[in-house]
Amino acid sequence: MIQYQCKKRNEALIYKNHLRQKYKERIKMDKSQRRDSFGSKLGIIAAAAGSAIGLGNIWRFPYITGTYGGASFLIIYLVCIAIIGLPVMLAEFIIGRKAGRNAIGAFRKLTPGEPWVVVGWMGIAGAISILSFYSVVAGWCMDYIYKAITNSFVGQTPDQIGTMFNELITNPIRPVFWQLLFMILTALIVLSGIKEGIEKYSKILMPLLLIIIIILDIRAITLEGSVEGLRFLFQPDWMKVTPKAVFIALGHAFFTLSLGMGTMITYGSYINKKDNLGVSVLQVTFADTFIAILAGIAIFPAVFAFGINPSDGPGLVFVTLPNIFPQMPGGYIFGVLFFILLFVAALTSAISLVEVPVAYLSEETNIDRKKGTILTTIVISAVGVLCSLSQGPWDATFLGKSFFDLMDYLSANWLLPIGGFIISIFIGWRLSGKEVRKEIQEEGTKGSYTSVFLFVIRFLAPVAIALVFLNSLGILQFG
Ligand code: PHE
Repeated sequence: MIQYQCKKRNEALIYKNHLRQKYKERIKMDKSQRRDSFGSKLGIIAAAAGSAIGLGNIWRFPYITGTYGGASFLIIYLVCIAIIGLPVMLAEFIIGRKAGRNAIGAFRKLTPGEPWVVVGWMGIAGAISILSFYSVVAGWCMDYIYKAITNSFVGQTPDQIGTMFNELITNPIRPVFWQLLFMILTALIVLSGIKEGIEKYSKILMPLLLIIIIILDIRAITLEGSVEGLRFLFQPDWMKVTPKAVFIALGHAFFTLSLGMGTMITYGSYINKKDNLGVSVLQVTFADTFIAILAGIAIFPAVFAFGINPSDGPGLVFVTLPNIFPQMPGGYIFGVLFFILLFVAALTSAISLVEVPVAYLSEETNIDRKKGTILTTIVISAVGVLCSLSQGPWDATFLGKSFFDLMDYLSANWLLPIGGFIISIFIGWRLSGKEVRKEIQEEGTKGSYTSVFLFVIRFLAPVAIALVFLNSLGILQFG
């Protein structure tokens, strides 16, 4: 009997040791496989929102809304956000978090040997083409910080402010200088690592941007003649809707939410398994859309009050807002702060763009993060300089567009929606409903919206994207 008990105790001890050993091994493995991940819930939302909120909301949205018809364009854009943007962002987060990899590695891991990985390659092309013109606009913004600090807007007529902008963008050296400085700053932040870099900067500065825009809104709607601008932004004129406008609205929905090119896959891979994906998507999309509309409310009343043409193109923000600052109490401070914050918003988006090729290079090749960042920055800066020069000294055109416009047009209106189309097919048809549901419920929530999501991502989103493309190519015509 005693002998028997001893034997039992020995076995239990051996088993206990075995478990302990296993546990130790697991910890060790986790450590070596662990990637950077965002420290807090606010971290990932702030970072994803930091990527989404940028020049797209404050520079691009107002000028294309001005060009393509105002309120009717705004409504089409909102529909695109709701039925395509929201589900595609969730799809990207699912892919990223499930795989825990960069845009290319994610597809390689989930479906090895299959061609889905093309989305990742398109994403790298997208990152390069977007950042090449994005950095130019960010550079303009830096020049405007300087202009605001040196009080250059005071006493200028709207015409003179327009000329000031044109002189800047057509200059062969000045905008290139700012653009390169912007790229260097972006690279330095990316080099400082995920958590410390992106999270820290986004968290404090985006709410500040929101406050400044609200203050600008109040000034803009109290300008004489502002009603016309509000009408332009909120009272739809459906006669202005063209297939091209729908096409541009769709492209912008992707652009503004940073979708269709792997940014949100890459960021999704840093999301903690405990975070609720659906809620994060809603928060990021809401914040992004809210800021765009607030930017519209700041700009259009002023456009009409100062007799500027709403379809003036990419200079719209730069020729409109500098007219407002001198006309408000504390205008000097607000002017300086506004351009600083716009610059920061551009920076957090640029970081997320650089992150796509860098995450790929450091995880899938033997180029490390540091070298990857330097390489990416050099390539983008080289293409970027061409974008900048194409605003003035270099007058070659492609498809009737300057090189700058070509990069913008191809990436936002073609690359991103096509990427988004493939992503929705991947989640809707290649992964099983069970896998998708499991990832959504990973954090222990019910994810009761999953069935609706699956329906939208299988049918509604891809069909809508396809129809917009066919329509704008003139293959299918409505109405
Ligand atoms: N969404 C960013 C903006 O609105 C731009 C961007 C596009 C960033 C695609 C990353 C990827 O400014």
